[in-house]
Amino acid sequence: MRLILIGFGTVGQGLVEIFQQKAEQLAASYGFVPQIVAVATGTRGILHDPDGLSLDVLLQAMQAGGLQHYPDQPRLRREFSSAEQLIRTVDADVVVEVSPTNLQHAQPALTHFQAALETGKHIVTANKGPIALAYPQLRTQAQQNGLQLRFEGTVMAGTPVIATGMELLAGCQMLEARGIINGTTNYMLTSMEGGMSYEAALKQAQDLGYAEADPTADVGGWDAAGKVLILMAALFGKTVSLQELSVEGITAITADDIRAAQAAGERYKLIATVSASGGSVRPVRLPLADPLAQVMNATNAITFRTDLMGDITVIGAGAGRQQTGFALLADLLAIQRISVSK
Ligand code: HSE
Repeated sequence: MRLILIGFGTVGQGLVEIFQQKAEQLAASYGFVPQIVAVATGTRGILHDPDGLSLDVLLQAMQAGGLQHYPDQPRLRREFSSAEQLIRTVDADVVVEVSPTNLQHAQPALTHFQAALETGKHIVTANKGPIALAYPQLRTQAQQNGLQLRFEGTVMAGTPVIATGMELLAGCQMLEARGIINGTTNYMLTSMEGGMSYEAALKQAQDLGYAEADPTADVGGWDAAGKVLILMAALFGKTVSLQELSVEGITAITADDIRAAQAAGERYKLIATVSASGGSVRPVRLPLADPLAQVMNATNAITFRTDLMGDITVIGAGAGRQQTGFALLADLLAIQRISVSK
């Protein structure tokens, strides 16, 4: 499977590390042999080699400061005007889009998606912007072209909530989804409960690779709100705008608030709720007996409320380099399964 990687930060590098660690197992168990034929970063260079790029050398080049440190090869090219041009001109099966999320206009990712769909390439992404803002149109366009558009990594990293909600629970009526869907803020609330300051907790969440490039999206509730939009589109087939959601983050929560909740046998959690009639994100004081109150650190959870199966709760990692890298791998393997069964 020939891949173009758009964005080569925490998540993209996490995927490449998994390819390195699991190359033999992926080939032996699934017949899956990925080949990265191109990589585009925002500011640290673009590379294309039809013979495939070396995973080791790619990671080393990034550690050294950028793709300019990748040595010349017989058929290596670096001169592209943009990631879009790269996608349009390079021959590949899948575009893995992991450039930074923008929830206002979804760019430049949306342009990358269009380029991929117009040139016959499947898309695998952890980028919330295009799915949150334009999923129904993108899905139609992908379907019309016989292409897959997969986005497990946009919500709860590689913990399989998109596949669960859209594929495994197909046939159930989805009544509501409710949960903790931002790793950074759950990590911060847990750390603050242990006595850490807001600033120190945020710094740690950034160091661990949980936070967005601009962490105000996390603490302001907007990252969770973006995921609410994705869940609304994926589970209920509805597109709404961020402005239609009621969103409140954790920026106003103080150490005193957290102590007061503790003293009352309760715990603050940033709770997202999604149904056909709308969605919200807000800090809620939950009694400790509520299962969501027991979800700590960067762990996330979603409870799907369905007609045939009642409540089903999926609990797992909500963020992280390897965990989001795995989401991309899971989607690539799904594409591989579909291609093989055709
Ligand atoms: N910043 C996000 C979080 C990353 O903390 O949950 C995963 O979407």
